[in-house]
Amino acid sequence: MNQKIYVNGEIVPRQEALVDIEDRGFQFADGVYEVIAVYQGKPFKLREHLERLVFSAAELEISCPGIAELQEETEGYLTSIGLGTEDASIYIQLTRGVCPRTHVYPDGLDSILIMKAGSLKSRPEEYYQSGVKIITRPDERWSRCYIKSIALLPNVMAKKAAERAQAYEAVMHRDGFVTEGSSSNLFLVEEGGLITPPATNYILKGITRQTVIQDIAPELDLEVRGQSISLDRLFRAEEVFLTGTTTEIMPVVRIDENEVGRGLVGEITGRISEAYRGLTRV
Ligand code: PDD
Repeated sequence: MNQKIYVNGEIVPRQEALVDIEDRGFQFADGVYEVIAVYQGKPFKLREHLERLVFSAAELEISCPGIAELQEETEGYLTSIGLGTEDASIYIQLTRGVCPRTHVYPDGLDSILIMKAGSLKSRPEEYYQSGVKIITRPDERWSRCYIKSIALLPNVMAKKAAERAQAYEAVMHRDGFVTEGSSSNLFLVEEGGLITPPATNYILKGITRQTVIQDIAPELDLEVRGQSISLDRLFRAEEVFLTGTTTEIMPVVRIDENEVGRGLVGEITGRISEAYRGLTRV
């Protein structure tokens, strides 16, 4: 994979893309980010991702270029690294900027925008065919999870716990209700319809989640309800799946030590997964 990095309008070799030790992203995790999938050279839902980046930045008062400029820069970067029609992912990060370390950030700092293309870490095909295990964990994050902040320690710890349990993902819960995965959203199937936790401040409004709700469910004539999901309800679900840019549509067949339904990939999950592949791999 091409190791050219975008840093504030310049495209430089990886070794020259250096971070100042007083970058607030480095010292305070004071920044926001996006991960965008690129299918056959074309970024999927680019506008939605850039809109969310602008939104996250505004929530934290970080100065951010407008959508049109971000779009031009992203497309320019993809062209200049010669990605062609490969599948890839782009990581975009915006940090507040550089200043002597102090909690109170000065107004009007010049933010730092970086982009890095990488491989689209598609999971082994077997995960999609046979489904995966997830674990449940208390949600230890702050209360503004709708912001896609680079402060991800609780997510990192939860994902590592999943790895240790030989599970794909850790699904978090707050006060007995499921919020989301450490880097994915969750849906369940109940009586032939889809249920997903509502987009409150406690979850990220995932773009893959939105794609299921707005593009796929109506096409497949499936009803979607935003409802709180108690742990008990999760364990009783007929089908469960995760959504995310790199996760795509991931069937879940085991939660902690319990099987979901009969422990096989659900029929509705299979149809949604197929529809998602149709959207992304045309
Ligand atoms: N994660 N919830 C959380 C906490 C996430 O970090 C992500 C994405 C999602 C799914 O959002 P989307 O469908 O827009 O990718 C939900 C990215 C991929 C990551 O951190 O790598």
